[in-house]
Amino acid sequence: MTILVTGGAGFIGSNFILDWLAGSGEAVVNLDKLTYAGNPRNLASLADDQRYRLVHAGIEDSAATAAELERHAIRAVVNFAAETHVDRSIAGPRAFVATNVVGTLALLEAVKAYWEKLPQSARAAFRFLHISTDEVYGSLGPDDPPFCETTPYRPNSPYAASKAASDHLVRSFGETYGLPVLISNCSNNFGPYQFPEKLVPLIICRALADESLPVYGDGRQVRDWLHVADHCAALRRVLADGRPGEAYAIGGGSERANIDVVHEICAILDRLRPRPDGRSYADQISFVKDRPGHDRRYAIDSTKLQGELGWRPRQSFEAALEKTVRWNLDNADWVAEVTSGEYRRWIDRQYA
Ligand code: NAD
Ligand code: TYD
Repeated sequence: MTILVTGGAGFIGSNFILDWLAGSGEAVVNLDKLTYAGNPRNLASLADDQRYRLVHAGIEDSAATAAELERHAIRAVVNFAAETHVDRSIAGPRAFVATNVVGTLALLEAVKAYWEKLPQSARAAFRFLHISTDEVYGSLGPDDPPFCETTPYRPNSPYAASKAASDHLVRSFGETYGLPVLISNCSNNFGPYQFPEKLVPLIICRALADESLPVYGDGRQVRDWLHVADHCAALRRVLADGRPGEAYAIGGGSERANIDVVHEICAILDRLRPRPDGRSYADQISFVKDRPGHDRRYAIDSTKLQGELGWRPRQSFEAALEKTVRWNLDNADWVAEVTSGEYRRWIDRQYA
């Protein structure tokens, strides 16, 4: 059997494929457009692994998807492919609609056409798992209960709106055509191979480069952090035993204010790689203009996932953050490679 992963050269997709092949014999086809965020080098350790194959194509290319589905008799699709950075969606929303909405629709159409031709037992066993975000639910006040699967959608950024639209399309293919779809809505991830435009790797990277550490607004916005390996474990549980048509909220129960996350990273770096002048990395923190429409707080109640599928996050936020800092220190060549070219131009525009 083989699964098709889309967007598997990005941050979470790479981690998912590496974990999948470490824990199962089942082959993986990775269909990825290799945008600025996709890096085949993340999966270089699989170069000689017969169970892994990379196909350079976008999810909007239904013919390419159809060919891979047929060629490998795919039994499940896991859709990570997306434009994912909120600040880029504010600077240019169009690419987000093109990939996250129109691309997801094209993928659903190709998968539906393939699925309809399968024998009855294979149709029943087939799964389409769509990876989404808690950002579709909007923003919480300080005393609001956390988001869960029944929280109404209220996206505030173009990124969140495009992900919300894709979730609705996926759900509609389940309701209308009977495609066995699953949706997961996860909180903020961090870990190895995260592109350094997102908060955690951006702060590590800029701290080491002796650059300012940009904290938006007052830095008191709250995110519910989850290590990527715990997210991938949850996705494997949802894919294996989730009920078709259902959504599952995934979160670490680790709410932290941004400024506290930044201070924690600085403290870890002070221990592991002290600045030559003896000052703390925290001296580099700089409060900058807030993100427009900035969501104040995200938090996830993952009771459904924990109760139905027995998932629990395994890593504490502090231990996982230290591990992530160490990964960035140990993989300076990976960081150097992805922070050249297009990345530099984005950083220059965004933090000028
Ligand atoms: P990422 O930006 O690191 O990677 C995205 C990947 O998708 C890249 O490999 C890119 O090349 C590929 N891609 C982009 N457009 C494509 C297209 N049209 N066709 C095929 N491939 C395409 O993203 P990530 O952080 O790994 O997120 C993966 C998924 O998880 C996204 O759907 C995102 O919305 C969701 N998610 C992310 C987080 C998080 O904290 N990073 C949290 C919850 C959910
Ligand atoms: P980010 O990693 O972009 O994830 P998301 O917006 O999807 O939650 O940002 C996490 C939080 O960190 C968010 O509240 C915005 C904030 N942030 C900063 O304060 N400075 C930065 O330079 C970036 C990129 C993010």
